[in-house]
Amino acid sequence: MASGDLGAYNIEDLRQMAKKRLPRGIFEYVDRGAEDEIALQHNRDVYRSLKLRNRVMVDVSKRTTETEIFGQKFAMPYGISPTASAGLMSEGGEVGLAQAAARMGVPCTAATNSLTPVEALYDAGEGNIWFQLYMWKDLALRAAFVERIKAIGIDTLLVTVDGSVGANREHDRKNGFSMPLRYTPKLIAQVLAKPGWCLRVLAPQYLKRGVFRKANYPPELASKLTDKYIDHEHTKSDSQNWDDIKRIRDMWPGNLVLKGLQSWEDAVIAADVGLQGVVLSNHGGRYLDTAPAPLQVVPEVRAAVGDRLKIIIDSGARRGSDIVKALALGADMVMSGRPTLFGAAAAGEAGSYRALEIFQTEMDRVMAQLGLNSVDEISPHVFWNPPDWAPVVKG
Ligand SMILES: Cc1cc2nc3c(=O)[nH]c(=O)nc-3n(C[C@H](O)[C@H](O)[C@H](O)COP(=O)(O)O)c2cc1C
Repeated sequence: MASGDLGAYNIEDLRQMAKKRLPRGIFEYVDRGAEDEIALQHNRDVYRSLKLRNRVMVDVSKRTTETEIFGQKFAMPYGISPTASAGLMSEGGEVGLAQAAARMGVPCTAATNSLTPVEALYDAGEGNIWFQLYMWKDLALRAAFVERIKAIGIDTLLVTVDGSVGANREHDRKNGFSMPLRYTPKLIAQVLAKPGWCLRVLAPQYLKRGVFRKANYPPELASKLTDKYIDHEHTKSDSQNWDDIKRIRDMWPGNLVLKGLQSWEDAVIAADVGLQGVVLSNHGGRYLDTAPAPLQVVPEVRAAVGDRLKIIIDSGARRGSDIVKALALGADMVMSGRPTLFGAAAAGEAGSYRALEIFQTEMDRVMAQLGLNSVDEISPHVFWNPPDWAPVVKG
């Protein structure tokens, strides 16, 4: 399926389309952050503050954005972060995300809380699926999840560890929005104000699939997205600790990646306990407000762990140049969740694909402007006047 450009020339265009099409509470659930949204804004500010020097008269006619991570080749060093809500963006939104990722050739991470079962996403994504596990409080349930993911044939498991307690997102409460969804008078008014969304997303959902469900939850837990008692209670454990990770490691034969770290000390422990990677992330500014931008901590984490771990980062990437900047600071791959969600809200699979296409074409263009032919050539040399937390340029 050809996507065309959909009239979207950058990720912000897709965001504006999503804003027009989604009920306000749902758009803000995706778009906004915790508390004063300092981390949310800072994530972007740090990317924007870094300046790149062009290089001229270099033959870049054979350049490629392709990369390899965990032994697998991808079209670019970019992947889709796990998000709980793509099914609220477009009908069967998660399926569209998985298909778009497969079409582009990048990994898509299926979320524990997704509204489509992971098995269906694995098929839609042609096997190109990673899985994000929340730390279920119930150890037996946690183990059952690991076994289930193993049986599907997924090889990379991301365990999200930054959500040991729920987030403080005041805008959600003001909008009457919560996950699980409750049809509060405020939310109903916002939904009715977007009849297009009701026709495109809500009606087909109820007609074809029934109520929104956290489709990966085991049957013994009621899984309607509107159920009162399905809450953070089950998946957020404030007693989680490294022993829990070791237990998962002992059961899991594939790549084990911890998502949600910001400290080099934690990354060193992750390497010591034998994990394959980390996702440095402040959850897109959705949990700890005033957290540093993950981009800023890449150099100190790389210095602390060397090549013992793959370093993936998310939170705030919106341009292909952002991927180049993150790699130049020492990351192996960049992820984000919101851009492909905005794309899904704008135009389903075609919109999510458009988001990926924007990242890829922008990255390709910037590499050419910097005189780079391959991802391996990206280094701290690309920066003009780098900040003092950037790695020292050698040679
Ligand atoms: C609407 C939404 C839902 C999310 N749900 C999850 C989730 O279920 N599990 C998880 O580990 N991270 C979740 N995240 C965080 C993302 O995986 C990722 O860390 C974040 O989107 C990065 O910020 P960026 O998209 O602005 O780059 C969610 C993010 C958004 C925006």
